[in-house]
Amino acid sequence: MKILVTGGAGFIGSAVVRLAIERGHQVINLDSLTYAGRLENVASVADHPNYAFEQADIRDRAALTRVFEAHNPDAVMHLAAESHVDRSIDGPGDFIETNITGTYNMLEAARAQWAANGRPETFRFHHISTDEVYGSLGDEGLFTEDTPYDPRSPYSASKASSDHLVRAWFHTYGLPVVLTNCSNNYGPYHFPEKLIPKVILNALHGKDLPIYGQGLNVRDWLYVEDHADALLLAVQKGEPGRSYNVGGHNERRNIDLVHAICDILDDKRPRDNGSYRNQITFVTDRPGHDARYAIDPDRIMSELGWTPSVTVEQGLEKTVQWYLDNADWWQPLLNLEGVGTRVGSG
Ligand SMILES: NC(=O)c1ccc[n+]([C@@H]2O[C@H](COP(=O)([O-])OP(=O)(O)OC[C@H]3O[C@@H](n4cnc5c(N)ncnc54)[C@H](O)[C@@H]3O)[C@@H](O)[C@H]2O)c1
Repeated sequence: MKILVTGGAGFIGSAVVRLAIERGHQVINLDSLTYAGRLENVASVADHPNYAFEQADIRDRAALTRVFEAHNPDAVMHLAAESHVDRSIDGPGDFIETNITGTYNMLEAARAQWAANGRPETFRFHHISTDEVYGSLGDEGLFTEDTPYDPRSPYSASKASSDHLVRAWFHTYGLPVVLTNCSNNYGPYHFPEKLIPKVILNALHGKDLPIYGQGLNVRDWLYVEDHADALLLAVQKGEPGRSYNVGGHNERRNIDLVHAICDILDDKRPRDNGSYRNQITFVTDRPGHDARYAIDPDRIMSELGWTPSVTVEQGLEKTVQWYLDNADWWQPLLNLEGVGTRVGSG
């Protein structure tokens, strides 16, 4: 399959690009390289004959038309987005322009190329979205694909808007779309402003490990390579017009997650005195902080045959080891704007 991946230099997009190349697909990586886009994330496939890179901005419709005409992909996996909730609170404008207008531009550029090719049924426009569109859960229950949308942050509202646009292009124009809504990802190449890498790196540097509120917010964690596997299944086998929730039944309170990371580090890179847990501090909660997210992944498991390969404990162990082994990757990112100043809970 020839796949146009947007946001392929980001955290999840680069995992998709690496896995798609490994599985023999042709990949065109379209990315504008914002602070979150790093070509180092795809360095391992950059010289592969099936890989091409296009530096383009999804807010630029003319640039998208050029890329579609040049490559004529069989499928689009649309991941390019502004993705950090804390940044969306500080400055929502970029989220509206990239996540909503950018998705509209992608839909229109894809629709034009699909029409020019005679509207093939095999074409797919796959929109990669988040469980945050469903809002917040109480102590019980899971998000299913039928849960009404109830976004609370500028980030999740912009993703909900783009999901609605994608569904409208299916119902109105017949564009064969597929949507996936995933829980919090973690793993290698995760930008250091997000909770898990931030905790690992602050711990290693002897800094505070800041946790919002009392750390009681619950998130459902998925290892990024398992997510990439689910996404490649969905783009190939997903039914047009259908959405699939992706999650691994790995709900953890933030405080328990941070404790688990400290325990792994205590084992792998012990401090001189006491546990890394001693570095934990609690900070004023984020406004509109959703209490609990939990995904029901039954549809993608039963209909597409997807299963995650690791538990959160195994995935965290791999992730901590990756950060210990890859200081060359994260060291230059630590001084970038915003990385040291936000708490980064997903
Ligand atoms: N990280 C998670 O836990 C999570 C969970 C569920 C869904 N998602 C969704 O998955 C997608 C990828 O998330 P991520 O964590 O890899 O994000 P990321 O911030 O790591 O990467 C985003 C990528 O998009 C690129 N980009 C941003 N604006 C662009 C623009 N205007 N034009 C072209 N490229 C642009 C960036 O350069 C970057 O490479 C997003 O759509 C996000 O909403 C993320």
